Amino acid sequence: MSFPERFLWGAGTSAHQVEGGNVYNDSWVLEHVRGGPYVEPSGDACDHYHRYRDDIALLAELGLNTYRFSLEWSRIEPEEGEFSRAALEHYRRVLAACHEYGITPMVTFHHVTSPRWLAAAGGWEANDTPERFGRFCGRVMAHLGDLIPFACTINEANLPRVLAAGAGLERDDSQGWWREAAGAVACSDPDRFVPFVYAASERGRETIMAAHRSALQAIKSVSGDAVVGITLALHAFEAAPGGNARMEALRRWCEDEFLEAIEGDDYVGVQTYTRLRIGRDGVLPAEEGVERTQMGYEYWPDALEASIRRAVEVTGLPVIVTENGIATDDDTRRVEFIERAVGGVARCLEDGLDVRGYVYWSALDNFEWILGYRPTFGLIAVDRRTQERTVKPSARRLGEIARQNGLC
Ligand code: BGC
Repeated sequence: MSFPERFLWGAGTSAHQVEGGNVYNDSWVLEHVRGGPYVEPSGDACDHYHRYRDDIALLAELGLNTYRFSLEWSRIEPEEGEFSRAALEHYRRVLAACHEYGITPMVTFHHVTSPRWLAAAGGWEANDTPERFGRFCGRVMAHLGDLIPFACTINEANLPRVLAAGAGLERDDSQGWWREAAGAVACSDPDRFVPFVYAASERGRETIMAAHRSALQAIKSVSGDAVVGITLALHAFEAAPGGNARMEALRRWCEDEFLEAIEGDDYVGVQTYTRLRIGRDGVLPAEEGVERTQMGYEYWPDALEASIRRAVEVTGLPVIVTENGIATDDDTRRVEFIERAVGGVARCLEDGLDVRGYVYWSALDNFEWILGYRPTFGLIAVDRRTQERTVKPSARRLGEIARQNGLC
């Protein structure tokens, strides 16, 4: 395999999934509503808020040169317009630790969670959200911009639609738990309570993409050199017999409408986990006989190559693989998954596609949203009782690939 010298080899996390104690965001509220879909709350997560330094050192020791993580908006701006200098200083220390260990930080400004006050004010369908998000990004850049070479405005802008299409997360305002959640964030009208993952409507898409543009502008106006883009959840789509028309329509609604809206960005962040087979009536369950991951997804490492090719075809932009991974308790399957996925990246490079990095999801076994701590995506295991970290063989394998294929 041959990779460019400056290829980014990394692992990723998101604030709410690893930091612990993120009590001011909408996810924390949803996790604690009686009768809601969460199997357990995030609690202390991986206590990464305090252990970030050791975790970053570990990634460097493994041979990786990139760490993708997110800033928790609700820590930095816990009430609208009230910015916490202490929280900004915390992230300054995180960024400084990355630089100190020779790790390139890749910073995500929004990864699923939003401050409670934003949710109360209409969340991801409200007219003011793009401007509010841009203001947050500008404030962050003013404080931290000198340490941020790579920025991702919004993680998986199309996630609400992917979830809606897969029937993984139907918003049902009539249910009691939903009303209770809206009440808990002080949103007077449950119909106006729109956390990010529920913004599948056209209005939601427009709000998210406008927020992306507002953020991009805010980031670039402070740091013209920062490499800025958005990330998307992309799949290898396949039509089962009779499913072609439906497949085209779903791919357009879930992916193409977003890919086509990011002209002029510095890169597109590709996040791929599996193949999606589409039948006449929509997304089909995993095919009989195909191995499944802990998420119930088909084990399909080749999906990554397909989605990189499609992202390039539609956008013409450079690609960074910002997430790719597998939830499994059998680490040998993770080793094979990574080797095959990275092989796909190598084939794209051989064909002249501009792929700049591969970031595995996730650095740590962490809080997998409604499924709690059950699925384990990590390169590094975390003991839920003691927070002790244990490096898995797959982490060493990825580090070895990175060392053999770059300047790490
Ligand atoms: C998200 C992560 C999540 C991962 C695995 C992505 O959709 O960005 O937050 O943990 O997939 O499901």
